[in-house]
Amino acid sequence: AQAVIVAIDGPSGTGKSSTSKAVAAKLGLSYLDTGAQYRAITWWMVSNDIDITDPSAIAAVAGKPEIVSGTDPAEPTITVDGTDVAGPIRTQEVTSKVSAVSAVPEVRARITELQRALAASAPAGIVVEGRDIGTTVLPDADLKIFLTASPEARAARRSGELKGADINATREALVKRDEADSSRKTSPLAKADDAVEVDTSDLTLEQVIECVVTLVEEKR
Ligand code: C5P
Repeated sequence: AQAVIVAIDGPSGTGKSSTSKAVAAKLGLSYLDTGAQYRAITWWMVSNDIDITDPSAIAAVAGKPEIVSGTDPAEPTITVDGTDVAGPIRTQEVTSKVSAVSAVPEVRARITELQRALAASAPAGIVVEGRDIGTTVLPDADLKIFLTASPEARAARRSGELKGADINATREALVKRDEADSSRKTSPLAKADDAVEVDTSDLTLEQVIECVVTLVEEKR
């Protein structure tokens, strides 16, 4: 069988990561969390005191950190210059700064190159989740999914993940990040014309996984 490439895009809190990981595991495919890569480069910028309000300062060092993603869906990993950063990339500080870093074209060019190389070398194929996978990174993907959900459903899921977080503050932060990601000049968050849109607001995770698995099997 030929390798199958699946692109899963959408805003945060729509269930992209849980869905993508489960679909990859079920179908024996590799898995890539591209948000983790942008978070990793952001973590490096913060750790090295780069002024992230200055795009030219970010651009000047965008090539410096070595970012390596492990693509086993059972145990995805991410390192920066050999350091495991799976924990530190999920802090509120990184989350609040990642949109500014990911908007810089030099950062996107660099990370996009890593993504294409990983997709090309996945033996059975890969599920790649992000914001611009179907539109920019892998425009020839065999299947493109665009996940959506109401702001309420997304904030409720995120607050569940971040135990005890205030739901209104969570919703505001989510909406703000999506606006920044959707309005940037270089490959914004967008649905590809040929993507299948799935509204997950009233679906369980199992239902979303089942839906995507069926769509992949139709393509194989
Ligand atoms: O998916 P996650 O919430 O971890 O993504 C973190 C951030 O990384 C997004 O808010 C966005 O700024 C950036 N990102 C991106 N392009 C992608 C994936 C993530 O710009 N393909």
